[in-house]
Amino acid sequence: GWLVSQMYQYQGRWHTPALLQGILNCQKHFQAKDSDIILVTNPKSGTTWLKALVFALLNRHKFPVSSSSGDHPLLVTNPHLLVPFLEGVYYESPDFDFSELPSPRLMNTHISHFSLPEPVQNSACKIVYCCRNPKDMFVSLWHFGKKLAPEETADYPIEKAVEAFCEGKFIGGPFWDHVLEYWYASRENPNKVLFVTYEELKTQTGAEVKRIAEFLGCGFTGEEEQVEEIVKLCSFESLSNLEVNRQGKLPNGMETKALFRKGEIGGWRDTLSESLAEEIDAKMEKKFQGSGLKFSC
Ligand code: PPS
Repeated sequence: GWLVSQMYQYQGRWHTPALLQGILNCQKHFQAKDSDIILVTNPKSGTTWLKALVFALLNRHKFPVSSSSGDHPLLVTNPHLLVPFLEGVYYESPDFDFSELPSPRLMNTHISHFSLPEPVQNSACKIVYCCRNPKDMFVSLWHFGKKLAPEETADYPIEKAVEAFCEGKFIGGPFWDHVLEYWYASRENPNKVLFVTYEELKTQTGAEVKRIAEFLGCGFTGEEEQVEEIVKLCSFESLSNLEVNRQGKLPNGMETKALFRKGEIGGWRDTLSESLAEEIDAKMEKKFQGSGLKFSC
């Protein structure tokens, strides 16, 4: 389901058949609680990292993060197994019961703002949205597709993939609609939606972790060391070198090491020619014009 010819458009967005089924089930069955926390991303925009950071900060009293304790859940469990992926779970189990998750429930989704289940829109639950610059996100997904579906993607030229991306025909795309909806939602309702970027997470991780914690109502007060320990534990270097992430598998069979590639800003330069990069830039400039949203890479 990597190629757009194998995707379906629903509520203006392109989805693989499996994720679309998951979204439909989610829209039908998900009941929100005011205390819920939902992490939202486009694929390959920092999902794994955000899951780890928010899990660690929310649970910092139950599971203290210190270099001396070797039994933190993140050291032995892939972040995707600690934070359920709504449409993934609902694809596997159409009426899965999330009511047993400990409170506050922490979950993630790629669903567009426009398509979120109504109870999410109408409850006081909080949304943290993480966006990544489109070129790195595209390149990350490109390599991910090559790794996960080598046969399907073997004859698919990158020029065609960029063209499809710029036409909006991409997993969860159009990319710009996904980003802009959450961008405006965060402007209109800053208590409900927090907008963060992969780039800021990377360049000022500690400050962003504190900002997320404050937004979630569990701010750090004089716990500088804790913040630093969380940043260190969740860093690319730390997570990608753990046994569980080097050798592990997710229940759907995916090797956990596929979730960690480079973890850099601007890595697209190794994969995209100048002219393909310009194609993406031109499209984004047009789409984000006047929104106040800029990508620094
Ligand atoms: S997924 O499949 O949608 O959940 O993938 P996602 O986690 O959103 O994106 C994968 C990219 O994020 C990089 N990554 C990280 N960057 C920084 N810090 C940490 N801890 C981290 N973990 C994963 C990963 O390497 C992918 O980016 P690329 O550019 O491909 O390296």
